[in-house]
Amino acid sequence: FADDGSQLWLNYDLIKDAKQRESYAPFTKFIAVASDNQTLKIAAEELQTGLQGLLGKKIATVKTATASGGIILNVNKNAPSSTNISNEGYEIYTEKGNIIISSKTEAGVLYGTFELLRAIQTGRSLAKLSITSSPKVKIRMLNHWDNANGTVERGYAGSSMWKWNELPHRVDPRYVMYARANASIGINATSINNVNASSRFLTAEYLEKIKAVADVLRPYGIKVFISVNFRSPRTLGGLKTSDPLDPEVRKWWNDKTKEIHQYIPDFGGYLVKANSEGEPGPQDYGRTHADGANMLAEAMRPFSGIVIWRAFVYNADPNGDRFKEGYAQFKPLDGAFDPKVIVQVKNGPIDFMPREPFHPMFGAFPKTTLGMEFQITQEYLGQSTHLTYLAPMFKECLDTDTYAKGQGSTVAKVIDGSLYNASNSLMAGVANTGSDDNWCGHPFNQSNWYAFGRLAWDHTLSSEQIASEWIRMTLTQTKPTEQKISDMMLKSHPIYVSYTYPLGTSHMMGESHHYGPEPWLAKSARPDWTSVYYHRADSIGLGFDRTGKVSNALQLYSPEVQKKWGNPDQCPLDYLLWFHHVPWTKKLSTGRSLWDELCVRYYDGVVQVGNLQKTWESLKADIDPEIFENVKGRLKIQEKEALWWRDACVLYFGEHSKMPLPKPLTPPQ
Ligand code: GCU
Repeated sequence: FADDGSQLWLNYDLIKDAKQRESYAPFTKFIAVASDNQTLKIAAEELQTGLQGLLGKKIATVKTATASGGIILNVNKNAPSSTNISNEGYEIYTEKGNIIISSKTEAGVLYGTFELLRAIQTGRSLAKLSITSSPKVKIRMLNHWDNANGTVERGYAGSSMWKWNELPHRVDPRYVMYARANASIGINATSINNVNASSRFLTAEYLEKIKAVADVLRPYGIKVFISVNFRSPRTLGGLKTSDPLDPEVRKWWNDKTKEIHQYIPDFGGYLVKANSEGEPGPQDYGRTHADGANMLAEAMRPFSGIVIWRAFVYNADPNGDRFKEGYAQFKPLDGAFDPKVIVQVKNGPIDFMPREPFHPMFGAFPKTTLGMEFQITQEYLGQSTHLTYLAPMFKECLDTDTYAKGQGSTVAKVIDGSLYNASNSLMAGVANTGSDDNWCGHPFNQSNWYAFGRLAWDHTLSSEQIASEWIRMTLTQTKPTEQKISDMMLKSHPIYVSYTYPLGTSHMMGESHHYGPEPWLAKSARPDWTSVYYHRADSIGLGFDRTGKVSNALQLYSPEVQKKWGNPDQCPLDYLLWFHHVPWTKKLSTGRSLWDELCVRYYDGVVQVGNLQKTWESLKADIDPEIFENVKGRLKIQEKEALWWRDACVLYFGEHSKMPLPKPLTPPQ
């Protein structure tokens, strides 16, 4: 059978090498699980399914181990705290010839089970196994931007995976696959609807549907959140206002929150986009983000749930700098948020651009729990036709030093709560899932879901390791092929940036669809929303001066960061035009003028796509034919569109620079 990708990285294909299969035999004679707990049952079944596939043998489940050579699933609620393992963490070790997977919780055992399966899937030895692992971030969450009508905002893999018209009566079996995939990488939360939220999701009709989903996800350790529309007290409750300080409004949210808990007792909480891009919010009533968030936190007080309040806000001010707006609106509120509130900040200050500097809020809010929002769906990153592996981009942000408390104050430490001793922590990713058979559109897009989950669990993992795991679990176990694919993946983000937004340019995507180039966009419905506003090309040069003359946004960062990025002669080229308006003729560290460097990057990006194609072609014999053809076709589109980007941008910027166009302006042979 050809591989349609529907099983994601849980394919469990038979290990081809009989010797390797044999090496696992001494540890896979039985699975022992003492309790009937549903999560443990799921773990045992996953082991059975996985080992059946990987080793081709049926393995029995027993209540207690009477012999050696098996896998024992063990919940040890009173594990000594000296083991330093958090509630969801696990240990895997061998004892008396058995492999023990042990955790304080059932969910921890499930995570450990997937780790053991991953060890076998990726060809690791089980002898002398000793793994201890705890998640670094507490809430590891997918944000679905799925609508009630079945569409997905910025979704490129078909329609919504949630079948609202069928729920609660028919529960699509894909929800179980979704839950397994998430549990296998440690994702423990999901917000099921678009942040541009319809109030519908709070009606009894929808709560019943969401309950059915929550019931499927619960035994996999996944809590459900709902994105809420701030105007719901008016639209649903018939109140005259949604003012967060109005007692009737507060009562409405208290009652609604209680009602939700009747359906979903372990409800995760609310996710809120307020006063952003036309969505309603507390500012409509002269109140602050904190007033709005704290009202919802109060409603959540009797329960375990929380409130996640997004910081993606900006006024469409053509004379301002959007870079500064999240910071400007939220900074005065540091310390004003209820402890149940997490403020969710996008990785960069604009909007999921192909490459952004880290958001200046990270490190600057010692009294507020800040969560990370990454975008797994590739709105500005080639959607589902360009191969772009995102782990290096996620890590670039996480590993950057904010210097907020001296050297080593990385963004990752803000997010995992260690920098300011936050009691909660959150990493969210905007999901790339849809109704496509393979879930994510481009077969390689699955790796971004995978990478997001792995990094949310442990941000110290390397992009290389994550790629290698994913390749071995999905595409091939042949080492040279794996290495070539890994190389393609690791280069893919820089290549994409090279032919779209080189040197720190930003927001040149075609209006609203955000797919092809439109650097010339000069007018749109929103007054600031023009490419010209963002890239600032003129006869002198290119880039947005944020060092003080046009905008002083650089000052939002700590002095060390300002020093790193503030001098155009020293600023890393990848960020140069984010902070400087650089003359076309200025010589850069590469020895070339800005204009020449820009052209070199656009041209090289296209050549590199050609190299990706060549490498892929050379792997044909080793790859499942369906996946091979699928990726091959998409790489062809990518090549065509890389040329489109290159020519559109070079010709457009050339009108400003008036410098000679590279020759020839034709596709490379
Ligand atoms: C981007 C995206 C929107 C989305 C918004 C958000 O602007 O284009 O579709 O609603 O981000 O994050 O809220």
